[in-house]
Amino acid sequence: MTTLDDDRDQLRSNLELIGRENIDDLEAVLSLVGQYDVEGFHRVEDNCPAEFTWDYQKGAKPQLDKLYEKAKKAQWNAQTDLDWSIEVDQEQVVMANAEANPAQMQWDPAALVGTALEKWDDKRFMQFGIENQNWLLSQFMHGEQGALLCTAKIVETVPWIDAKYYAATQVMDEARHVEVFSKYLDEKLSGHYPMNAHLGLLLDDIVSDSRWDMTYLGMQIMVEGLALAAFGFIHMMTTEPLLKKLLRYVMADEARHVAFGVLSLQEYYKELSAAELRERQEFAFEAAIRMKDRMAMQEVWERMEVPTSDVIKITAMAPERDDFQILLFSKIVPNLKKLGLLDAADGWLRTKFTEMGAIAFEHLTDSTEDEDAFADGSPAERQVV
Ligand SMILES: [Fe+2]
Ligand SMILES: [Fe+2]
Repeated sequence: MTTLDDDRDQLRSNLELIGRENIDDLEAVLSLVGQYDVEGFHRVEDNCPAEFTWDYQKGAKPQLDKLYEKAKKAQWNAQTDLDWSIEVDQEQVVMANAEANPAQMQWDPAALVGTALEKWDDKRFMQFGIENQNWLLSQFMHGEQGALLCTAKIVETVPWIDAKYYAATQVMDEARHVEVFSKYLDEKLSGHYPMNAHLGLLLDDIVSDSRWDMTYLGMQIMVEGLALAAFGFIHMMTTEPLLKKLLRYVMADEARHVAFGVLSLQEYYKELSAAELRERQEFAFEAAIRMKDRMAMQEVWERMEVPTSDVIKITAMAPERDDFQILLFSKIVPNLKKLGLLDAADGWLRTKFTEMGAIAFEHLTDSTEDEDAFADGSPAERQVV
């Protein structure tokens, strides 16, 4: 007997999965720009059934139980554990970042010849740096709201009591994360951006999917895996003390969230058919591309009135920025391997990550071995730095 899934024996093409054949088609990437919803709301149908369980045996899934007990003691208070009296000078942050990391934060003048940026003065470049900060923190904030909604959905849809308990602690964590990024934007930076269009498409896909494990795969494995790597990079680079501490605290929570994803899915994925695994591979690939696409920062370029043709030219001459984008997959690839998704369907996803240049990360340790995830006490008590 064949199932509906088995009838589809072809893996879908890039065009079907992400709307374009060439994943590096920057013109197509830049053509999607996030917009503010004039009504201030964005509604997505949540198609997954809410699931009661009558099996209340706590600890039936011992690792999830352990994570839940750790999470209860790891809570921190966004209002009182961070020093909000610290003043942030955005211009100084732009200059310090450029100095700390010239390959990412400065442009080679040769790349700017013949583009709008050739005529920019120092003031305009400074504005660009400030817009970058506002954009980045805005995307973190929107992503955190995505995590808040997804995790509330997991409380409803996951069938096991230990996972419902753990997910409930993550809902609290994500509320705190939205709170800190929103407060930082409002009190320390100088403007908001709408959700990036590619991130928005991905979050819509995750929230609307009817299968409970896809929420985990999209959010805990892909979005939070990338966020953890990005937070780690910025935490390492920034000299702004409030952001540095804020990110370190958020990272301590995110380490648990990603471990929660791997621990929840690893057994479940062993039971899935080849066709079902293939769909998860496609979903992971689609998510990876959407997250890579969001890094093109199209909303900033638009606000700075730089034409798409100029952005393509400038980006083509800054290959080290691509290398940085690939680094952000360092947490994702080992976790996909642990879940068996790299090698299912004749290694289709392995080929995709090889093409993206990210396959070498498969040898790093996966998130179930992240010390932060199982640490004792809150980050404030542990005095993490
Ligand atoms: Fe978060
Ligand atoms: Fe999270």
